[in-house]
Amino acid sequence: MAIKKFPLDKMSPMFARIQLENLNDEIAKHDKAYHGDDAPLISDGEYDELVKWYKEIEAAFPVEGDNNPLGRVGYAPQDKFEKITHRVPMLSLGNAFSAVDVHEFYAKIDRFLGLDGAVINLTAEPKIDGLSASLRYEDGILVSGATRGDGQVGEDITINLKTISEIPHQLQGEHIPKIVEVRGEVYMSHAEFAALNERQEAAGQKIFANPRNAAAGSLRQLDSRITASRNLHFFAYAPGEIIWGEMSGLQFTTQMGIVEQFKQWGFAVNSLTQIFDNADELVAHYAKIEDLRPTLGYDIDGVVYKVNRLDLQQRLGFVSRAPRWAIAHKFPAEKAKTIVNDIEIQVGRTGALTPVARLEPVSVGGVVVSNATLHNEDEIERKDVRIGDMVVIQRAGDVIPQIVEVVLDKRPKDSVAFEFPRICPICGSAAARDINAKTGKIDVIRRCEGGLICKAQVTERLKHFVSRNAFDFDGLGAKQVQQFYEWGIIKDASDIFDIEANDGQQWDTIRKREGWGELSVDNLFTAINERREIGLDRFIFALGIRHIGETTARMLARNYETMELFLPAMVAASVPIGTDGSLFNEAYADLVNLDGMGDVVAQSLILFFAEDNNIKFLTKLLAAVTTIPLEKTDDSSPVAGKVMVFTGSLEIMTRSEAKAKAESLGAKVTGSVSKKTDILVAGPGAGSKLKKATELGILVLTEEQWVAMANGDANGDANGDAKGETDE
Ligand code: IVH
Repeated sequence: MAIKKFPLDKMSPMFARIQLENLNDEIAKHDKAYHGDDAPLISDGEYDELVKWYKEIEAAFPVEGDNNPLGRVGYAPQDKFEKITHRVPMLSLGNAFSAVDVHEFYAKIDRFLGLDGAVINLTAEPKIDGLSASLRYEDGILVSGATRGDGQVGEDITINLKTISEIPHQLQGEHIPKIVEVRGEVYMSHAEFAALNERQEAAGQKIFANPRNAAAGSLRQLDSRITASRNLHFFAYAPGEIIWGEMSGLQFTTQMGIVEQFKQWGFAVNSLTQIFDNADELVAHYAKIEDLRPTLGYDIDGVVYKVNRLDLQQRLGFVSRAPRWAIAHKFPAEKAKTIVNDIEIQVGRTGALTPVARLEPVSVGGVVVSNATLHNEDEIERKDVRIGDMVVIQRAGDVIPQIVEVVLDKRPKDSVAFEFPRICPICGSAAARDINAKTGKIDVIRRCEGGLICKAQVTERLKHFVSRNAFDFDGLGAKQVQQFYEWGIIKDASDIFDIEANDGQQWDTIRKREGWGELSVDNLFTAINERREIGLDRFIFALGIRHIGETTARMLARNYETMELFLPAMVAASVPIGTDGSLFNEAYADLVNLDGMGDVVAQSLILFFAEDNNIKFLTKLLAAVTTIPLEKTDDSSPVAGKVMVFTGSLEIMTRSEAKAKAESLGAKVTGSVSKKTDILVAGPGAGSKLKKATELGILVLTEEQWVAMANGDANGDANGDAKGETDE
């Protein structure tokens, strides 16, 4: 989501107010989604963008009143928990996104304190991507624990927090204040997160997008046994209210001292916390933590810097919702560094070998990434990605994460260049790169030539066959077909329709197998039988022929109408004629001449139908399945059953609209004019096609005439004469 930014200097005050109101609503919506529902709708980076834009407009056009979302932290507490008012508000942190921002932050502190360049110590520690909690201890006993809520009022989640082993129920050791609030971050480790999602999936429950959401969902449970089962963790990093009382002795003077004391009391504190003298050192520590990020085992989204001396913190105080004495130096939202643990080669339905990088899991833009595509062998070579490398990965929107570059100075000394296999890793058949028919160049994709003997290709085809836009059997998805294949119940898709008849005969009944009960098997058989009739377009798509997507499948179904016409035509088209083995015959010419068909697609089709095994497969499948022609188009229209060609530029409809319209009226649209053409619609700029149509005596219409006809206007009658209105 990129936000549209109207130039500030062209904004009127009125326009700015509306913009701010809209942004306010938008930000509030995301606050609720993030803090209230634990289900963010946008990435953290996108959220930061919105807030930044709000601030920019607000700075240019200041607003009065307290309707400012930026004065609010988080989302108002939910009703299901009791509320706890924080004695000391739980604030947020300002953000720095670059080294320049960090230097500015330091310089501002220096100016504010007027220390004239004297060294100001700051601590730097990882910013944990979890959710903050405040724990209240009275005489050393944990009495309550709350979420941040809106910063002023949080939710009472004491019993849930007590299930976390890193939260002591009683403070240990010495220097126990009368009252102390210990604040910190509750988080979930990567390992716990993966295990939880596996359990959730097996139980058919909600899958969490990232460890932060999982931690939040786990903490906000009304049943604390659920929280306990989630093995959450806690790092303590800041105090809230403190009342020392008479007996406590020593008091804190520094941030580091606080953290040390927390540790003495029995809390887990982050071991990467260190003290530094200046902004350069902070930025260097940031880089170090960024490199360590993939090895930590939990999510962090930046580094927090805090002025170490508490008296200076006191003097610096707060601005709106954030302290002046601390800042969060955020990692870039959509990029992260991680390690390539392995490079695996996946084999697709059409035999394509695709390299996939298996990564040390890392959170990018709110999603845990553990795989990245490497596209093909040229790409690996170009980027010189090797197993063991540290890499920068990038994720934008829903796109599969990409490897941007290798961090070369982190490359292990013993690393070797990745060698792309020349044979299929699944079946051992040769894997070669084709010569591209169109360009004459060597294709980037290496393909396994094992065809049906390649288990990967067979199972990928099966998965395609059952997929949503193909046969779409209820309860028989990718996982189940894979299972059936491995159990020897099906060898190819045509076997699916024999499962019921053979169950308990050829193999031990599915009813007794793990994950399958009586009822689910009955439902499965019903679902399979419901697909014994299927649209011809879906059927063609389900075959998984290379280059035949849904659109081409639909086009073929529309043009050949029935299986009885389609199959013989394809077989005829794939019979080589001529002594040179050339593939061109009349059926092939008809095929290539279809609008939307090209050589590459046509050749892929005939390669499929020239293969004996495929014909055997189809014959068996067609004994079990009846195909239904595409929904009957409007027979009464004047173009029904006519073969039409569009040429020249169209001005009323786009080319694809015109084509779709013609097809919906029952016409066939082809790409070139021949004796079979009935109507040519010619717009301005028409040339050779118009000439040929005129020579062949074919009806020629202007675009207006065609539109009138399509709209059922009597004047645009196809049998009427198209009086010389063409532009020739
Ligand atoms: S200090 C007044 N330290 O980040 C300063 N916060 O974006 C209190 N967070 O609300 C916060 N790790 O939930 C601090 N090491 C850390 C942190 C940390 C994560 C969270 C915390 C805070 C938010 C601000």
